[in-house]
Formats: sequence, C-alpha cells, structure tokens
Amino acid sequence: MNSPKKPLNAQRPSSEIEGKAPNHIAIIMDGNGRWANAKGLPRIAGHKEGVEALRRTVDACKTLEINHLTVFSFSTENWRRPKAEVDALMGLLKLFVKKDLKRLHQEGVRIRILGAQTGLPNGMHALIEECHELTKNNTTFNVNIAFNYGGRAEIVEATQNIARSVKSGQLDPESVDETLLHSFMWSSELPDVDLLIRTSGELRISNFLLWGIAYSELMFLDVLWPDFGRDDLERAVEGFKSRNRRFGGL
Ligand code: IPE
Ligand code: IPE
Ligand code: MG
Repeated sequence: MNSPKKPLNAQRPSSEIEGKAPNHIAIIMDGNGRWANAKGLPRIAGHKEGVEALRRTVDACKTLEINHLTVFSFSTENWRRPKAEVDALMGLLKLFVKKDLKRLHQEGVRIRILGAQTGLPNGMHALIEECHELTKNNTTFNVNIAFNYGGRAEIVEATQNIARSVKSGQLDPESVDETLLHSFMWSSELPDVDLLIRTSGELRISNFLLWGIAYSELMFLDVLWPDFGRDDLERAVEGFKSRNRRFGGL
C-alpha cells in the first residue's frame, strides 16, 4: 500500500496567501500576427513588437515583487508554421540574447531556456548554454523562456528518463512521486505557477506548462501581446490579489 503523502498545502508559499503578489507569473504571449495584420504589416513585424512587450514586462515584473516570469515563446506545435516565420522566430531569440543578455545579467537576472533540445538549428544550443552559464548565480529575478516547448513533450521526456533510471537499477519505482517526477522535468527549477495570463482573447492553454499550472489562477486578456504594457500587468496582479485560492480546502 502507498504510504500517505504529506498534505501539499501544509506549508503554503507566501504567494498562495490572499493579498500577496504572485511569486510566479507565466504568460502565453499571443496575438502578434493579428496585431501586425490589423496594421497591414507582415506577421514578423508583430513578433518584433512582441519582443518590445517582453522587455517592458520583464522590467515591470522586477518592480512588482514577482520572482519568476515564464513566457511561451515557441511551442513544439509552432513548427507547423511556414518556414520563413519559424526562421524569423528563431532569429528573434538569437537577437534577444545578443541585445539583452548582458544587460539582464548586470541587473542580476537569471535566465533559463526550457524546451526540447532536438530539432533546434545550429548555434542554438551554444546560445542556450551561454545564457545558462552566464546567469546561473544571479538571484534578483528569474526569466524563463519556454522555447521549442510542449507540456506533453516535457512529461514524456521526463517519463523516459525515469524509466531509464529504473531499468538501470538507479531508481526504485516506489520512489516515484510528484516531487521526483517534477525533478526530471525541464521546468524542475520552476516553482508552481501562481498566475497564468494569456493575451489575444483566446481561451486555451495550447500545451503550455501542464504540470506547473495545476493550481494557477487563469486570466485571459483581450489585449494583443505587442500592446501589452505595465498597466495590463499591474491590473492582472491586482486581480490576482483579490482571488480566493483554496487548493481544494475550505
Ligand atoms: C504569438 O503570436 C507568438 C507565437 C506563437 C510565436 P501569434 O503568432 O500566434 O499571433 P496570432 O495568434 O496569429 O495573432
Ligand atoms: C501559443 O500560441 C504558443 C506561443 C505563444 C508561443 P499559438 O498561437 O501557437 O496557439 P494556438 O495555435 O492559437 O493554440
Ligand atoms: Mg497565436
């Protein structure tokens, strides 16, 4: 028989207490293409403007007592888009790292890029490694970029690695619990998401952070991502503070 697990809410982090700012915000940055279309511009212009919105959001988070910002920047499903758009999105991550890495590092920001390593173009692995290596000791704020990320792919890869460890005798199947499974995931160093925001008015998760959003507060905003600004973030944080999170309790 399984031994009873410790109640998960025995020691709630401060962000789970009503009135506190969220410790971890995750954002599905959606609507770049529609923003560009509405202005008669190519879709890539929307993605470029989306990078500006990301810069604004990182700056705003740092002043709002938020510790982790995780953004969805390229999904495992986004490979279905035309090659030119995929190439442009890859290029934008490279550009972001080139232009912003030094400054973010000087500000004490730790950067993590999480997602599948397979299928990425040449040079991308070195770029990811550079971000991780340079910022690994930073502690003022955490920016996590989900890139070539899929929530199901993450769980599958973790399960494969657990199965390998069991097969080689390093792991006892009985020791597999929520903590252990999470420790095998790309998001192993990320705390649970407190607030998940999706822009652009779409009401879906699109395979983002399936594990970490189990008890997140959800907000779907009508603003298109390139128009997202500090005011939108502040309103979302205020809205979060007034939510009553119960985690299955009373
Ligand atoms: C989000 O904007 C960015 C990515 C998915 C990479 P979209 O490109 O999905 O914009 P819409 O949804 O078509 O407007
Ligand atoms: C989700 O947006 C992925 C990112 C924001 C990177 P999509 O635009 O790809 O999602 P769907 O296709 O509307 O579900
Ligand atoms: Mg979209």
